[in-house]
Amino acid sequence: MLYRSLGNTGLRVSEIGFGCASYWGKKVFDEAAAIRLVHAAVDHGVTLFDTGASYSGGNAEPRLGKALSGLKNKHDLVISTKAGSYTDERGRRREDFTPAGVRRTVEASLARLGMDAIPLLHLHGPEIADLTEDLLDTLTRLKKEGKVLHLSANSFDVNVIEHVMTLPLFGVVMIDYNVLRPEREPIIAKLAARHLGILAGMPLAGGLYRKNRFRIRGVQDLWYIARAWKNHRSDIARGRSLRFLEDEQRLTGAEIALAWVLRKPEVSCAVFGTTRMSHLLGNLRASGATLGDELLQKISRAQLSFA
Ligand SMILES: NC(=O)c1ccc[n+]([C@@H]2O[C@H](COP(=O)([O-])OP(=O)(O)OC[C@H]3O[C@@H](n4cnc5c(N)ncnc54)[C@H](OP(=O)(O)O)[C@@H]3O)[C@@H](O)[C@H]2O)c1
Repeated sequence: MLYRSLGNTGLRVSEIGFGCASYWGKKVFDEAAAIRLVHAAVDHGVTLFDTGASYSGGNAEPRLGKALSGLKNKHDLVISTKAGSYTDERGRRREDFTPAGVRRTVEASLARLGMDAIPLLHLHGPEIADLTEDLLDTLTRLKKEGKVLHLSANSFDVNVIEHVMTLPLFGVVMIDYNVLRPEREPIIAKLAARHLGILAGMPLAGGLYRKNRFRIRGVQDLWYIARAWKNHRSDIARGRSLRFLEDEQRLTGAEIALAWVLRKPEVSCAVFGTTRMSHLLGNLRASGATLGDELLQKISRAQLSFA
């Protein structure tokens, strides 16, 4: 596993991170299997794990906490979680960017993760109007109290990211960057020019470049297809034009997708999700993998067809 600096935070992270979210965190997905994935990732050098209070019906964060409780080196890991969203007692996703709400979420996340400090806290999809002076004061206080070590914004809205870049409190941004989203590159360049750390979420584009994405081998496949249909419908069409990624001999489609994201030195870490050990172990081989010019050009040509 190779490691990269996370902007100017002083942190170094594995260039591939593990996303503790989505189906991985669902109660219906076997907890022992989920924890085995985290432990295997740690054994293979992964040091960044991303989760959120609102993920997987509220089950992802405490599940990660359980996985971490079995680890001697948990304090060497960069655990990131999210504030501004949470799951209520009826399992519904809620948003609350009020200073009191964010503080409440942070305190609850610390307890669920079993940590004294959150190494990296993302605001989860804030609007510009949510980033009030009062909220920034509270975040500054949370840092002074040592409850939060570094701050990030997780946003897919370029206007929000541009605004975050002007706020010195934030050292990191998490965006959706993958082979289906080359249009993220101008904002990546701007973030890098300001020395912010960049995490690529969804680096496999939910697997939508795959030829057999719609073949059901487990309940999780149905779940991911339903999510793509609901939230990422335009990516389904984009994915069709990149199916040749799975024709390569040297690397799998997932390894190519990750290596494509990581070819950008500005990206500190590609944070993917999986429920399958074979996928985890295969994907980690993408660290240090390089893509030939011919393949890169073929990908660029296919991306030209994106509307
Ligand atoms: N999705 C979002 O809106 C979002 C938002 C903010 C942050 N994030 C962060 O980004 C992380 C990753 O996001 P994500 O899980 O939505 O997207 P992703 O990592 O791009 O894709 C996950 C999908 O790819 C499949 N996959 C993984 N490895 C594979 C392989 N080798 N071959 C074939 N399929 C493979 C997984 O299925 P299997 O289970 O079968 O492997 C799953 O369906 C999250 O965990 C979270 O930390 C995501």
